[in-house]
Amino acid sequence: MEIIKCKNYDEMSKIGANVIISLLKRKPDAVLGLATGSTPIGLYKNVIIAYNNKEISFKDVRTYNLDEYCGIERNNIQSYYHFMNEKLFNYVDIKKTNINVPFARNEFVVEDCRKYNKEINRRIFDIQVLGIGNNGHIGFNEPGTPFNQETFVVDLAKETIVTNSRFFNRIEEVPTKAITMGIKNINNAKTILLLASGTSKAQAIYDLVNEEPNTMKPQTSLQNHSNLIVICDEEASSLL
Ligand code: PGA
Repeated sequence: MEIIKCKNYDEMSKIGANVIISLLKRKPDAVLGLATGSTPIGLYKNVIIAYNNKEISFKDVRTYNLDEYCGIERNNIQSYYHFMNEKLFNYVDIKKTNINVPFARNEFVVEDCRKYNKEINRRIFDIQVLGIGNNGHIGFNEPGTPFNQETFVVDLAKETIVTNSRFFNRIEEVPTKAITMGIKNINNAKTILLLASGTSKAQAIYDLVNEEPNTMKPQTSLQNHSNLIVICDEEASSLL
């Protein structure tokens, strides 16, 4: 595990973006696993700058997102599909057909999970970008998820619903279920790039580094990955 401690969010975002930028320079048809949330927004901004400077292109890049709320339409502004368009895809030359964000209809979740899982298992991800939950979740793999879990529908932890309610008018509007790549899928990526910012992540990062792998701390599943890069700002690394 490589741990990079940064001064602040901006530095974390620049260093994280540089990992993606150098990958795309080296391998223009890379397969990227992407994440939503507040943490990678700065990384995406820096990637867009590199695109605008003609350093990189997304013409042959394929992307797969980690997760999505269940039963939410693509055009809903709370969807992660919408988030990705707003934060990255609308500003680069990626082909719409190369964008993959999971989608689960409430009535067909089993079928939808199977389809997404089959698709991601056909690919070798060059990199998987990850945030981390305050409770240590990766993707929406909440505490208690087995390490051999593949794409599934999860009942979101109470803590996750409370944390995510900041993006909604009322907590009752936060979906309670999500489709997510499983821990096994995440660990299949050649490189994992985990970003963490803020004091609320400090314990989760401490546990990632120091706890014995155990399912109550999903982030500890990453410890044995052969190429894990953790980029933290000062606050997130304050307990290390
Ligand atoms: P955040 O979410 O980037 O908004 O903090 C991370 C996560 O829950 O995985």
